[in-house]
Amino acid sequence: MKSTLSYLKKLELFKELDDHKDGQFFAVADQRVKNHLPQWISFSPNIFWLKQPEEEKNLEVFGNAVEFFIKQGICRSSTIYAIGGGATTDLAGFVAATIQRGVNWVAIPTTLLGMIDASIGGKVAVNMPQGKNLVGAFHMPERVLICGDFLATLSEKEWMSGKGEVLKYGFLSREVHDLILRKVPIEEIALACAKYKAEVVERDFREKGERIFLNLGHTLGHAFEFALKIPHGHAVAMGLRYLFKVTGNEEALEELEKLAKALNLPLEKLDLSSFLNFDHKSFLDYLEQDKKKSGTSIRLVIVKGIGNCYVEEVPLKDFKAKICAHAEFKSS
Ligand SMILES: NC(=O)c1ccc[n+]([C@@H]2O[C@H](COP(=O)([O-])OP(=O)(O)OC[C@H]3O[C@@H](n4cnc5c(N)ncnc54)[C@H](O)[C@@H]3O)[C@@H](O)[C@H]2O)c1
Ligand SMILES: [Zn+2]
Repeated sequence: MKSTLSYLKKLELFKELDDHKDGQFFAVADQRVKNHLPQWISFSPNIFWLKQPEEEKNLEVFGNAVEFFIKQGICRSSTIYAIGGGATTDLAGFVAATIQRGVNWVAIPTTLLGMIDASIGGKVAVNMPQGKNLVGAFHMPERVLICGDFLATLSEKEWMSGKGEVLKYGFLSREVHDLILRKVPIEEIALACAKYKAEVVERDFREKGERIFLNLGHTLGHAFEFALKIPHGHAVAMGLRYLFKVTGNEEALEELEKLAKALNLPLEKLDLSSFLNFDHKSFLDYLEQDKKKSGTSIRLVIVKGIGNCYVEEVPLKDFKAKICAHAEFKSS
């Protein structure tokens, strides 16, 4: 199963979208990017607009979207376009996975995180009150269209989140690592990250093997995301930094500092001491629910060198003890 990944300039994207102007164009789209899109889309009748995608990434809105598209006459051969950040593509992809047991979908990610991560790989889902992404499916988009021009309006917070996830790829891929240090334009780095993920997913769609490496930094990252209520990629960058600290991986820590500097990612924002609201207990409790847990052990992705990682299974009890013994966790 493979998606076609294309990089388009804004005019090329407009041309692509304009081809559907007079036909039935079904889409789930984030209102925040309306101004980035051709004007006719604002008046198009078959668009399910989202105002606050992460809040709307739930079963109720999923049901509303399915009902909307059915009423609008969607059929088995239709395609749903998903235009927005990761929350939009996750919801739209899940809608596409389920309508008539699956219709085609095309992802047009509009955040950096969406371009390098959420829109690639076919994991689609909605959140439940009990946790994030608890109901979902594997449903590959037919195509992913990446257009760097969307990035111009990203907030500081969203840049930080996207760059945090870029940092992870800097350890997984030598190519991305070198592009970051050469300070090439972020669009170029984003495309390399997206291609890297797409290739890994193509080789290991169901996460039986190397796809697990994409979870580097995510065990602690998800716990930071939950305990500090910060965006995903920001939490992943902290997850990486503290993984290296807790496991005493000095070389990787130095590398992270170099990469963060080249990406203009402020290191102090990756520091626990900059948060007043860190709740130790909810952080440690969250580790217990990690999906990569098997029995009483946790599977950690460990960095040996750039592009050289392995998985280590460690007893959760020992890992938690290591975290608690670390000076920065003690004092926060
Ligand atoms: N499916 C996967 O493999 C996968 C991987 C990683 C993350 N995710 C999911 O992705 C989501 C996070 O992604 P995200 O950070 O893109 O979230 P998001 O979609 O909530 O977007 C973040 C914010 O940016 C706004 N926005 C979107 N595009 C913009 C633009 N071009 N200019 C200005 N503002 C813009 C949105 O309205 C929102 O307020 C989470 O729901 C997470 O679970 C999924
Ligand atoms: Zn991630």
